[in-house]
Amino acid sequence: MVDVIIIFASTGGNTELVCATVAEILEGRGISTIVQRVERSQVDDVDKGKIILLAAPTYEHGVIEYNFQPFLKELAKKDLKGKPFAAIGLGDTKYDDHYHIESANVLTQALKKAKGSTLVHALRINKSPLPQLETVVREWTLHLAKKITESI
Ligand SMILES: Cc1cc2nc3c(=O)[nH]c(=O)nc-3n(C[C@H](O)[C@H](O)[C@H](O)COP(=O)(O)O)c2cc1C
Repeated sequence: MVDVIIIFASTGGNTELVCATVAEILEGRGISTIVQRVERSQVDDVDKGKIILLAAPTYEHGVIEYNFQPFLKELAKKDLKGKPFAAIGLGDTKYDDHYHIESANVLTQALKKAKGSTLVHALRINKSPLPQLETVVREWTLHLAKKITESI
């Protein structure tokens, strides 16, 4: 079993970039990862990882990227039996004053409803992740790596 299964959706490539960065940092700390697109994933793929990481951007005033929707429907039928999870959401406050980065909330709620247990608070990326890879993304991932090392 791999340490972390990362399943993501990404229309424009930002979420994909964040996931690749997270995976690289985790691998650098000796934590094995699989990174795969939600379009090519079955919900049971979460069983491949000791820890689940789901990542998605927000579109259409607070809606999670549409490719994630069928996956979340299936996840609602699953029992994660306390498996640790983390979520990553991307968004941009210029598109939505009230619901920006709602994808982080949607993923967190779906994982909690399926009886997953929160390992760390969700990573929320507002606007382009590029200038945040070495700061916000790296700091969050190092915190995640610490929690993973303690839990496996
Ligand atoms: C047409 C369009 C609609 C968007 N709507 C929202 C939104 O409602 N809320 C939000 O927080 N971000 C919104 N965003 C921002 C995206 O979530 C953000 O650019 C994200 O980084 C895109 O990730 P991706 O490149 O992985 O698809 C929107 C972006 C576009 C292009």
